[in-house]
Amino acid sequence: MISHGELRSAVVVIGASGGIGRAIARVVARERRVVVLTARSTEGLSVTAAEVREAGGEALTLEMDVLAKDAPKQVEDFLTAHGLVCDVLVNSAGYGLRGAGIALPIDEQLGIIDVNIRALTEFTLYFLPQMAARKRGGVINLSSVASFAPGPYMALYYASKGFVRSFSLALHQELRRAGVTVTCVAPGPVATEFYARAGARHASLFSLLPKLEPEVVAESAWRGFKSGRRLVVPGISAKLAVFALNLLPSAAMLPLIGKLQRGGNDPCPCGSGKKFKKCHGARRT
Ligand SMILES: NC(=O)c1ccc[n+]([C@@H]2O[C@H](COP(=O)([O-])OP(=O)(O)OC[C@H]3O[C@@H](n4cnc5c(N)ncnc54)[C@H](OP(=O)(O)O)[C@@H]3O)[C@@H](O)[C@H]2O)c1
Repeated sequence: MISHGELRSAVVVIGASGGIGRAIARVVARERRVVVLTARSTEGLSVTAAEVREAGGEALTLEMDVLAKDAPKQVEDFLTAHGLVCDVLVNSAGYGLRGAGIALPIDEQLGIIDVNIRALTEFTLYFLPQMAARKRGGVINLSSVASFAPGPYMALYYASKGFVRSFSLALHQELRRAGVTVTCVAPGPVATEFYARAGARHASLFSLLPKLEPEVVAESAWRGFKSGRRLVVPGISAKLAVFALNLLPSAAMLPLIGKLQRGGNDPCPCGSGKKFKKCHGARRT
């Protein structure tokens, strides 16, 4: 157990009630560390806490919306009350929405900026200075293969992940000699609730591509973080996707992603009230 004077160090997982956050918590727990789990769902958090204890770690849960006022301070107060400091922060809270930008509700789209960008940035900037002062620890930020391209029909989500990658890589460079690591994790499709929540379960792009288990992503992320990596792209298919996205010109890539992400039965974004395939079936996108 690592301790800082009277305080013990903890790994704080934001978005720990399921999916990749839960899997990272389990992987970390194998090293018998204290893991602080936060998310909105009490039920999801108690499942994760049980799995963390089963794996050999110590689990504490804090039910919290990342959009709550002073959310990072709430986490810090919780840590202090338990004699802990944040040694590693994992930002895994996030969501996406599939559909045409002009058809999806504006508030839900702006929520992607609030959760995936604003809250992640706030947590990162709140805890990094303390880590730098201790010259240890760091941050794992969940981006995505989606960060390597614009994503028609999931425009806000792809853009948000582009921000996370750019922000995280820049901070990694700034803190290179400070004893602190910022690791950006960019998975391709992972078998979690993400797609159902995004309304993307049936989009061809995600039904065609192989999905990694969250455990595989979690293991790569934790290993990469511990070796001080700036970017982790888990799995061969995600690495190939990144390679292809870096090679393809936008003129070829944008229609391809758009086609694979658009649903023929979705309402057409032109406002005709018809299904996409009825309205645009004969046209190229
Ligand atoms: N699944 C994929 O294919 C995939 C691929 C690449 C990147 N990612 C990224 O990986 C991260 C984790 O995704 P996942 O697949 O694990 O999705 P998930 O299973 O839907 O889990 C998302 C987590 O975020 C939490 N969350 C969402 N909004 C929140 C809020 N306002 N306040 C607090 N917690 C919130 C959820 O908890 P509550 O709902 O209980 O609050 C849940 O714990 C996301 O950033 C996602 O963009 C996922």
